[in-house]
Formats: sequence, structure tokens, C-alpha cells
Amino acid sequence: MDSHFVEVEHLRQYFPMGGFGSGRTYSRAVEDVSFYIDRGETLGLVGESGCGKTTTARTLLRLYEPTGGRFAFDGNVIFDVEKKQYENMLPYRKRIQLVFQDPYASLNPRMTAGDIVGEAIDVHKLAANKQDRREQIIHMLEMVRLDGSYADRYPHELSGGQRQRVGIARSLSVHPDFLICDEPVSALDMSVQAQILELFQELQEKFGLTYLFISHDLSAVRQIAGRIAVMREGRIVDIQE
Ligand SMILES: Nc1ncnc2c1ncn2[C@@H]1O[C@H](COP(=O)(O)OP(=O)(O)OP(=O)(O)O)[C@@H](O)[C@H]1O
Ligand SMILES: [Mg+2]
Repeated sequence: MDSHFVEVEHLRQYFPMGGFGSGRTYSRAVEDVSFYIDRGETLGLVGESGCGKTTTARTLLRLYEPTGGRFAFDGNVIFDVEKKQYENMLPYRKRIQLVFQDPYASLNPRMTAGDIVGEAIDVHKLAANKQDRREQIIHMLEMVRLDGSYADRYPHELSGGQRQRVGIARSLSVHPDFLICDEPVSALDMSVQAQILELFQELQEKFGLTYLFISHDLSAVRQIAGRIAVMREGRIVDIQE
């Protein structure tokens, strides 16, 4: 059987909503989601609000315990609920990174851009010493086209586009190979959206990144994704080549 870099099969995620025993009710956020992504490819995932896109992303990272399905990444089975097989997520928390919609909500307002990027480097113990850490931070900021002086700025001193660049620098600082981008340009003005989409493409080429690119905006997804999966009410209903 052909194996792809990312393979998701029959992913399911039900959230308990209350009740007991047979009276238990569930929110069926993800009902049946299957897709694959090859290395270096971008798959778009579109669908209207509430169809289960974010839940799909968070379940793959096991921020929610999957109710059903299988996820294989680079030849490793991350989880297979039916087979009760679960891989230790620790190495994958580095290799698979999330980029969020609203960098303002996901960036600590009391931390400078440098510390925000540095925190990820610290968590994964990637710096040999203070000097090395500083150099890695500056390098990552330059990768997202912010010069080193931005390291000392706070999120409220940055524009929306600059904040998203800091969010991307943070995600990239741990050298992931798979980025799950959850509405990463939806909060931005059109002209800034185009710049950030271009940056994503540039970084993909530079680092050979694989993207799952989530959006409710089909035109944004068309600019970046080769194939597009369309989701409705917890299911993939179409994959456009
Ligand atoms: N933690 C949770 N507990 C219970 N229900 C949830 C939870 N998270 C999401 N849901 C429900 O699951 C469904 C899918 O939500 P999800 O956030 O995945 O949609 P989405 O496609 O990302 O929407 P949007 O485009 O607005 O971001 C919704 O009905 C939502 O209310
Ligand atoms: Mg969402």
C-alpha cells in the first residue's frame, strides 16, 4: 500500500454534552474525515463555520482524545483508535506545529517577540547557551522578514501582519516539518493576507514544509493549496484536485 507523509482515516471526534448512561448526548464535531498530504504539499481544508475544521486540527495533535480513526505521520502511526494504538506525542509536538488565526490572542502580551520565539526554543531545549538562543531568535525573525530589532517589541506595538509573522516564527523555531495553519490570514486585511500567503509559500520552498491550510475563505485557499478538501457537518464531502 502506498503510504503518504500525512494520512488521516475516518477521524471522529464527539464531545460529551451531558446526560448519563444511555441518555448521554454528544456534539458530533467530527464525524468522518479522511485525507492524505504528500511531503511538501499543501492541502486546503475549507468549510463553513462550525463544520469541524479546528476540531480536526486539534484532534490530530491529540489536544482532544480522538473518538475514532487513524492518523499516520511520516510512516508512524500516531494513533489508531480501533487498534488502541497510541504513540508518545512528545517528538510530534515539535514536528507538527499549529499556526493560529488570531496571533493577538495567542501571543502573550507581556512577552516581547523575542521571548515569544525564545520560549518555544526553550521548551524543546534547542539552544546551547544565551548567545545561541539570541542568534536563533534573530534568525527566525529574519526568516519571516522582520529585522532583529523586532525582538524587543511587544505584541501591542506590532501590526496584525507583523504579529502573525511572530506567530509563524515561533512555530518554525522548533524546526517542524508539518504545519497545521488554522485560519492564519482570516483576521488580516486583504493586502496583508496576500503578503502572509506569499511568506507561507516562500517558507514552504525553503524548508520543504507540508501544510494543512484551514480556512472558510475558498479564494485564500486557492492561492496556496494544490488540492482542497471541502468539509460539511463533520465530514469531507469533496476533494478538489
Ligand atoms: N470543546 C468542545 N466541546 C463541545 N463542542 C465543541 C467543542 N469544540 C467544538 N465543538 C463543536 O464542534 C463543532 C465544530 O467546531 P469547530 O470549532 O471545529 O468548527 P470550525 O469549522 O473550526 O468553525 P470556524 O470556521 O468557526 O472556526 C461546533 O458545533 C462546535 O460547537
Ligand atoms: Mg475553527
